[in-house]
Amino acid sequence: MWGDDDVPSQAGRVAVVTGASAGIGFATARALAERGCHVVLAVRDLARGADAAARIGGSTAVVRLDLAALDSVRAAAAELTGTHPKIDLLINNAGAWSATRAETRDGFELQLGVNHLGHFAFTGLLMGALLATPGSRIVTVSSVSHRGGAMDMADLQMRQNYRHTAAYARSKLADLLFAFELHRLLARADAATASLAAHPGGVWTGLFRGANPALLVHTLGRLVTQSPERGALATLRAATDPEASGGEYYGPSGIGELKGAPKTVRANAKAHDQALARQLWDESERLTGVAYGPTLRPS
Ligand SMILES: NC(=O)c1ccc[n+]([C@@H]2O[C@H](COP(=O)([O-])OP(=O)(O)OC[C@H]3O[C@@H](n4cnc5c(N)ncnc54)[C@H](OP(=O)(O)O)[C@@H]3O)[C@@H](O)[C@H]2O)c1
Repeated sequence: MWGDDDVPSQAGRVAVVTGASAGIGFATARALAERGCHVVLAVRDLARGADAAARIGGSTAVVRLDLAALDSVRAAAAELTGTHPKIDLLINNAGAWSATRAETRDGFELQLGVNHLGHFAFTGLLMGALLATPGSRIVTVSSVSHRGGAMDMADLQMRQNYRHTAAYARSKLADLLFAFELHRLLARADAATASLAAHPGGVWTGLFRGANPALLVHTLGRLVTQSPERGALATLRAATDPEASGGEYYGPSGIGELKGAPKTVRANAKAHDQALARQLWDESERLTGVAYGPTLRPS
């Protein structure tokens, strides 16, 4: 069973982890730092980031990144590429969950905006540093809830008939469509960079702090979930297992993929719909104004 001890030495490597101030991102950043990686905590709140860095120890830096604001995404990417021309690991972990409809600074539905569009732009802006680093990997964190997701390209921002669970599921399906399309583009370009996906199973974190405390799911949630450290293992395996390769998706091996040691898992058919992935990619480039450049152009 793959576990913490299987994370190989990361000495001399650089990782950027989004949403590293809390939950699974914090656990991921700490595990990488413990293996000698220099970890950049990309966080929306610098004070929380500094506190997380102090708790992690090792070699860390903190960069301000608010995925709900494209100008912050651009500023963070510019700062990072200025200080780190080479990046070995980009962990697209940060996630927003919102019980009511809200929008990012640029007018995107919040969950799609943070979970997919912000990461789409951030990854595109860091692609030069990733492509310059042989063996680099991008790991995008999705969820079992991608299975309930549907991409209505005519109303991507869910302005009509908003349901928060459907919006979250859509954002997590978008994460997988993005991760797999990026894999196909990288493979076609013969790049020495890989794109993988992971999901943590069920983890009782601050992600659900907006949920109604009266809901039964709150009580049940605590019973069927695992710790952030265990939840981070799928991401860590996708990021560091020498046997892992581009296009794979890792998640817990237990019942319903809620708990357990990480293994490769299957995404649903929609996540592998290449025409849909292409449509979402084009729309994401248009909405964010971030183009991935000539190396990763579809044929
Ligand atoms: N928990 C689960 O059961 C579960 C299940 C499936 C998938 N996931 C996925 O796992 C990932 C991590 O979630 P988690 O459970 O660890 O949640 P969490 O404890 O709430 O952590 C989420 C992280 O994302 C950050 N974040 C939120 N909005 C952001 C923004 N606009 N810009 C930058 N960072 C932002 C948060 O920053 P602050 O610290 O400033 O709030 C926090 O560091 C997410 O992608 C989530 O969708 C979680």
